[in-house]
Amino acid sequence: MSNAVTELPTPWAPKDIPSNIYKPKTPFAAKVVEIKRLTDPESANEVCHIVLDLTGSDYTYIDGQSVGVLPPGETDEGKAHKLRLYSIASPSCGDCGTGQTVSICVKRALNFPHPPGVCSSFLCDSKPGDTVNITGPVGKSFFMPPVENGNMIMIATGTGIAPFRAFLKTRYSTRKNETGHNWLFFGCQTQKDFLYQDELDSYPKETFHQINAISREMKNSEGGRMYVQHCLQEHAETIFEQLKDPRTYIYMCGLRGMEPGVMEGLSAAAESQGINWQEFLSDLRAQGRWHVEVY
Ligand SMILES: Cc1cc2nc3c(=O)[nH]c(=O)nc-3n(C[C@H](O)[C@H](O)[C@H](O)COP(=O)(O)OP(=O)(O)OC[C@H]3O[C@@H](n4cnc5c(N)ncnc54)[C@H](O)[C@@H]3O)c2cc1C
Ligand SMILES: NC(=O)c1ccc[n+]([C@@H]2O[C@H](COP(=O)([O-])OP(=O)(O)OC[C@H]3O[C@@H](n4cnc5c(N)ncnc54)[C@H](OP(=O)(O)O)[C@@H]3O)[C@@H](O)[C@H]2O)c1
Repeated sequence: MSNAVTELPTPWAPKDIPSNIYKPKTPFAAKVVEIKRLTDPESANEVCHIVLDLTGSDYTYIDGQSVGVLPPGETDEGKAHKLRLYSIASPSCGDCGTGQTVSICVKRALNFPHPPGVCSSFLCDSKPGDTVNITGPVGKSFFMPPVENGNMIMIATGTGIAPFRAFLKTRYSTRKNETGHNWLFFGCQTQKDFLYQDELDSYPKETFHQINAISREMKNSEGGRMYVQHCLQEHAETIFEQLKDPRTYIYMCGLRGMEPGVMEGLSAAAESQGINWQEFLSDLRAQGRWHVEVY
């Protein structure tokens, strides 16, 4: 394979990135088309895939952006609830294929004995036909490689898989002639918490590689919970071989707490390959190949 990097045309140029078409004061009232629980019914974690209808709106988005949701009701202080953001889990043509829907992947936020999360409960309890007021889209940089035949290294915990589900759908539909490799490092608590697994299993094994860190069922080399950062160390050689290719882009999405561990994991992985991680990382950043969205 040649090492020449061919840049793709728009929509990756900033002027073409849709941004805040709908704002909190003027949201779009989207209808729920479909809601489906993704986690096994026996899992303690409830994660839902929700498809929203954009018909009649000017809403457009690019894979990797987020949508704002304004939950109904008021806070205990009598103020309108604030907007919550959700990563878009559908490709820009939507799960419907015509650009008339946007999908999100929502986990019901629970912190017993406190009240359940306002917006995630509203969304997970919604039914087809219900109205969800949405804003956005937002996000100006967490995009697929803007080059032909790009490789993606995607590191996700839980619902952090959402943008990668969109990237992979696009990669294996509209960009299916590309030859790049796609690595998904996915962390979840148990096998009952896998998300979109049927879909992921349908991608070609020649270019799609999934490595799972099932924290409550697998142990790391020190006997503790297996996290994505431990898998990164185990695959150090492959990762850094891939990252030496200027077409390789690396992404991290999910729990804020994963970021320091992943940085340590990548640093140790680099060291094992005789690479100075700090220098390597600043080059990745300078080349726009390093993308983090954690919360
Ligand atoms: C860019 C971005 C993308 C995101 N993408 C996603 C996504 O794809 N999927 C997703 O699921 N989330 C995503 N999030 C997180 C999402 O925006 C919300 O923060 C999340 O759904 C929780 O919101 P909520 O309204 O349900 O919970 P909130 O009502 O805000 O409550 C948060 C938590 O606090 C607990 N709580 C309530 N009262 C108390 C109290 N008194 N003391 C302590 N705890 C309390 C609740 O039980 C809940 O667990 C993203 C966030 C960002 C910034
Ligand atoms: N764009 C964004 O910013 C974006 C998009 C989507 C989601 N999110 C956020 O991502 C989070 C996803 O949470 P979730 O509830 O779906 O995940 P979760 O189920 O709580 O955790 C997913 C996995 O990550 C593991 N984990 C816990 N601490 C970790 C650490 N320090 N390093 C690495 N792995 C760790 C968990 O292990 P154990 O629980 O067994 O310890 C579990 O295996 C939410 O906070 C959501 O708001 C952000």
